[in-house]
Amino acid sequence: MNPLLQRLHPYPFERWRELTAGITPNPAYRPISLGIGEPKHATPALIEEALMAALPGLSSYPATAGEPVLREAIAGWVQRRYGVALNAGTQVLPVTGSREALFAFAQTVINPTRPGATVVCPNPFYQIYEGAALLAGAQTCFVPSVPSRNFAADWAAVDDATWARTQLLYVCSPGNPTGAVMPLAEWKWLFELSDRHGFVIASDECYSEIYFGDSPPLGSLQAARALGRPDFRRLVAFTSLSKRSNVPGLRSGFVAGDAELLKAFLLYRTYHGSAMSPLVQRASAAAWADEKHVVANRELYRQKFAQVLPVLQPVLDVQRPDAAFYLWAGIATSAAAPLANEVAWAQGLLAQYNVNVLPGRLLAREVAQHTPPNPGAGRIRMALVAPVAECLEAAERIAAYCAQQRQAA
Ligand SMILES: Cc1ncc(COP(=O)(O)O)c(C=O)c1O
Repeated sequence: MNPLLQRLHPYPFERWRELTAGITPNPAYRPISLGIGEPKHATPALIEEALMAALPGLSSYPATAGEPVLREAIAGWVQRRYGVALNAGTQVLPVTGSREALFAFAQTVINPTRPGATVVCPNPFYQIYEGAALLAGAQTCFVPSVPSRNFAADWAAVDDATWARTQLLYVCSPGNPTGAVMPLAEWKWLFELSDRHGFVIASDECYSEIYFGDSPPLGSLQAARALGRPDFRRLVAFTSLSKRSNVPGLRSGFVAGDAELLKAFLLYRTYHGSAMSPLVQRASAAAWADEKHVVANRELYRQKFAQVLPVLQPVLDVQRPDAAFYLWAGIATSAAAPLANEVAWAQGLLAQYNVNVLPGRLLAREVAQHTPPNPGAGRIRMALVAPVAECLEAAERIAAYCAQQRQAA
């Protein structure tokens, strides 16, 4: 067996299942889950129709590089969304969801024979980054998020010796679970570090189309272009249809950026066997070409946040995020008790009100030198993926639970 498999950590949902195994949720309430970040809005008909129309494609093997029609559709979307012109032949590659691509990319980029091979990740973070690093034979370095900066990652917490060993940096903007969007100045800083130390940047942008302000989140390719890096050297962006178009079951996304890196990634993918089904390619091309359903989808999330936040803000330490569909809430509203145990809190909420949320510490790693060591401690993640009325009902139950907790204190 591959000994590196022993280094993997159980997935947050697996740990949460164990922590809730003995709990019987109050049957007086119907269950509401704000736990898993799986989009629940309806899949647009135009995508289903394109998929059905492509059925004859089942009779042929797809190319790993994808069909030109899909690559052109992706390049067209990047041009409209970010104002960035890409060469569809060399700077774009379809992937079967950003998850597999984020994982496979580390296997392509990491050289484990170089001493101290390191992958830098935000903390809290999407657990695939860590698993990808460990199975590639690298070690991880976690960067804490800063509450005072809307939970943006504090890249300055990484010392120069660690950057020198770093081969790959995962950035997640908009972030899961914090929703923080990285500004241009931070991109500039990271690009300069990448130039100095030679590491590659994997920019996870799968939540880029769900945002609440007037201007869409800055993308990494857009940042690179604005900073005079038209070749996107050492940068690859990861984008997905799952959240943008409510098709998590389609398994479709793309990577774009540095042509040299994509050439190596394509070679890896050819052997790995991760070509996208011709049906999915046609459906994806239709999805990238349409923006109307994306605007409607965003509007639904805006409604949810507008209705839920006024109910939660009096009882939890919670702000509207820059983007994505999560609330990253502190369960102690007073600074005097910032590290209350959110695991017990979430277990109580499930038992008494049948609302499922994810305790923050399960999404983060403990780093002794950081304050607090686990940046998820005292926080819960709520995914506002259920219909508006259900999210609102969950918020009202949480408010009742908090009132009850205050009375008991
Ligand atoms: C931060 C982040 N990146 C990537 C993904 C993977 O999405 P997909 O594989 O559906 O594109 C997810 C899914 O929840 C996520 O939260």
